[in-house]
Amino acid sequence: MNVPFIDFNPQYQTIKEEIDSGLKAVFEKGNFILGQEEKDFETEFSRFCDVSYGVGVNSGTDALYLALGALNVGPGDEVILPPFTFIATALCISYTGATPVFVDVEEGTYNIDPQKFKEAITDKTKVVMPVHLYGQPANMDEINTIAKERNLSVIEDAAQSHGARYKDKRVGSLGDIACFSFYPTKALGAFGDGGMIVTDNKDIYEKTLMLRDYGRQGRYEHKIKGFNSRLDTVQAVILSAKLKHLDEWNKMRNDHACYYNELLGDGNGIKTPQIQDDRSHVFQTYAVRVKNRDKVVAAMKDKGIGVLIHYPIPLHLQEAYADLGHKSGDFPVSEKIAGEILSLPMFPHMQKEQVEYVCECLKQEVKEVEK
Ligand SMILES: Cc1ncc(COP(=O)(O)O)c(C=O)c1O
Repeated sequence: MNVPFIDFNPQYQTIKEEIDSGLKAVFEKGNFILGQEEKDFETEFSRFCDVSYGVGVNSGTDALYLALGALNVGPGDEVILPPFTFIATALCISYTGATPVFVDVEEGTYNIDPQKFKEAITDKTKVVMPVHLYGQPANMDEINTIAKERNLSVIEDAAQSHGARYKDKRVGSLGDIACFSFYPTKALGAFGDGGMIVTDNKDIYEKTLMLRDYGRQGRYEHKIKGFNSRLDTVQAVILSAKLKHLDEWNKMRNDHACYYNELLGDGNGIKTPQIQDDRSHVFQTYAVRVKNRDKVVAAMKDKGIGVLIHYPIPLHLQEAYADLGHKSGDFPVSEKIAGEILSLPMFPHMQKEQVEYVCECLKQEVKEVEK
């Protein structure tokens, strides 16, 4: 049996008619840039997140970059983030000229450790950027309390967690600004690149609206030096059709995750995800930890199973960030996780037999490499 890491087609088939007719309408109208459908999707998605405003942009990376821009982050400022994340979380900070300051993650959730965040704050710190990794929210109460005490802004990197909840509040409503990616593999994915900034703050909303569209106020009146970073109408139509099913698809992901947990069990040399009682996990990524990870990955691939590693090298050890002068051992929890983590196939329309096959092979290979 072959099990792909992700299969987009069954999902498309369930909403094909709505997408196809929506796209035809856009093609006929020709309102490709900031069309009404795009504005409608901003409203729909911000409502979904229980916040007042949404600004559609080119990508999750741009969402983070423009959010920092809206807070006037620049050279001389420091922004705190975990090193165990996708590199875009750090790159957007570097683009502004500010310095990314890494803080290690919690062993259980893989999210930023609030106490270590507190210790890393300096007079230059302006923002903390927790990442809700794989789909599980970070410990937002502690992060917000510390941020408030020290007058810092909180930007959620919510690129992997559309629809997740923390104490019954939606991700997107947990900080000052939240940034989403609609990269195709995300829980809410476009058929190309896309992203969104959501916020309850009207000033930030108005500034990001300008920043994503050449700093415009009128058609050819430019108040600030903005960028070209808009979510196109074609992607908005697709995302809008998908958003209606997001909770249902996240539930399907959760069911697969529960089945994975049940079949993989405890004590087989496989660490399954730990979910905190006060939050929900949307399992954009179902990741386990094993010893001899690289050998296990090779063997799983030989058996036709699509597995990936999110992420093999923490950001402080990436060549791109050599200028920060970090070394191995600086963030031991992130380094340990990066050496053991392994993402298994996960998509809403996965079949039970596929989960069973993946578990059977994984258990066998973990035993095999231990010999
Ligand atoms: C945690 C995280 N932050 C930021 C991004 C950047 O999003 P994008 O690829 O849409 O630029 C991604 C995804 O790629 C991500 O996983």
